[in-house]
Amino acid sequence: MKKFLIAGNWKMNTSLDEAINLSKSLVEFSKTNENINEILVCPPFIWINKIKEICTNSKVKVGAQNCYYKPNGAFTGEISIEMLDNIKVDYVILGHSERRQIFKETDELINLKLQNVINSSIKPILCIGETLEERQANKAFEVVENQITKAFQNIETNKLNKVVIAYEPVWAIGTGVSATSEQAQEIHNHIRNFIVNKYDKSLSNIKILYGGSLNDKNADELLNMQDIDGGLIGGASLKAESFINIINFANKISKS
Ligand code: PGA
Repeated sequence: MKKFLIAGNWKMNTSLDEAINLSKSLVEFSKTNENINEILVCPPFIWINKIKEICTNSKVKVGAQNCYYKPNGAFTGEISIEMLDNIKVDYVILGHSERRQIFKETDELINLKLQNVINSSIKPILCIGETLEERQANKAFEVVENQITKAFQNIETNKLNKVVIAYEPVWAIGTGVSATSEQAQEIHNHIRNFIVNKYDKSLSNIKILYGGSLNDKNADELLNMQDIDGGLIGGASLKAESFINIINFANKISKS
């Protein structure tokens, strides 16, 4: 049976009240429904502790949207992996395209973060994906291969099974235009084969999430694709109803 990871990336959204209400609705849902998949929310740092309290002893896991790779020190405004470990977050998103594009994060920096997260108890969600220009120039495969190769540098192969990949084409993020299920399946399959061939056969089960305008209208089709193991959802994770609808599609597919 396929087990999906349905992850909400709240980005820099929600007031404290909204964050509390949203997570309470998800906790209620996860109790009443025979949910068989993994549900994750990644709130802004400042709400994480509160949301963790609400989600304790429920099936809703809590993650962070970013971290810095140094354990402590004079890095104003940053949050370390040790701090996230301290409050026991389950996952951390690394290399989101908004971090790469707006905050100028390089592949080298993302690699340093991944090297350190991999040795903590937190699971990394590594985001990769091409821009529109790169897709139009037929470079999508090359771009994701490059991002993976650089991110995985200096990491022992036997630790890579802890990594979750999120394929998020930049042109689909927040635009309302998702990749078609065929486009997504094609590149997910390519990513899986690339990782298996370059690193280790045992990585054939690595989780590859799709992200980019995933919502409750297209989730059924996208999640039905063989190489799509879940979603990293921005906009549609901010309303309990649409996020729960997506989780329900995942549950239906898992049970079928
Ligand atoms: P979106 O964001 O669902 O709003 O397109 C996805 C993401 O950036 O993780």
